[in-house]
Amino acid sequence: MGINKLIFQSALFNTSSFSQSNLVKYIKKVEGQIQDKEQFILYQLAKEVSSDSCIVEIGSYRGKSSICLGLGSLHGNEVKVFAIDPHSTYVGVNGGKFGASDLSKMYKNITSFGLGEVIYQISLSSFEVGKIWQEKIGLLWIDGDHTYEGVKSDFELFGRFVTSNGYILFHDSYLDSVKQVINEILQSEDFILTEKIGTITVLKKVK
Ligand SMILES: C[S@@+](CC[C@H](N)C(=O)[O-])C[C@H]1O[C@@H](n2cnc3c(N)ncnc32)[C@H](O)[C@@H]1O
Repeated sequence: MGINKLIFQSALFNTSSFSQSNLVKYIKKVEGQIQDKEQFILYQLAKEVSSDSCIVEIGSYRGKSSICLGLGSLHGNEVKVFAIDPHSTYVGVNGGKFGASDLSKMYKNITSFGLGEVIYQISLSSFEVGKIWQEKIGLLWIDGDHTYEGVKSDFELFGRFVTSNGYILFHDSYLDSVKQVINEILQSEDFILTEKIGTITVLKKVK
C-alpha cells in the first residue's frame, strides 16, 4: 500500500507498538462506545492481519474503533481498513442516537491521527455494501445494527470472505440478538470461540 509508518509527535507515543494504557491515553479525546480493553483487542488483532487481506468494520460512529483498527494496521501489515457506516439517522438498541453529524467528526478524527490513507470510509449500510463485497477479510468487526436480523445479515454477507485463521469480533455480545447469531455460527464448526473481552466475543475461522 506504500504507507509510511506513522511518526508520533510526542515522546510518549514515539512507538511502533502500544501498550493498552498508552493506546487508551493516545486516543482518549475521540468519542466512542468501546471500553479500554476492547480498544486494545481491536488494535492487537488488527496488527496480526496478513497483507493479502483487509479489515472490515461495520458501525463506525465517530471513528474510535476505526482508529484502533487503523493504528493496529499501521503497526502490523498496513492493510486497508474499510469502515462501513451510513451515518444516517439511527437509534441503537440501548437508545443511542446516531446521524449525519457523526460523519464529519469521524473524518476529523481519522485525519488528526494520520490515518487518512489507511481507513477507507464507506457511507452506506452494510446490507448494501455486502451485496457487492469481493475482498478477502482478515478481521471483521461487527458493531452496526444489533438486531438479530442485522447481525445475522452482516455475518452472512461478510463472514464467507473471512480467511482461514481470520477473526470475527462481535460487539455487545451480551445482547440476546447477538448471542443467538454467535451460537448459530458455532454449530457449524467453521469457527471457534477464542476469547471474550469486555462485551466483545472473538471467533476464529478454523476451516
Ligand atoms: C454503537 S455505534 C458504533 C460505535 C463505534 N464502533 C465506536 O467505536 O464508537 C453503531 C453505529 O452503527 C451504525 N449502523 C447502524 N446500522 C448499520 C448498518 N446496517 N451498517 C453499517 N453501520 C450501521 C450507526 O450509524 C452507528 O454509527
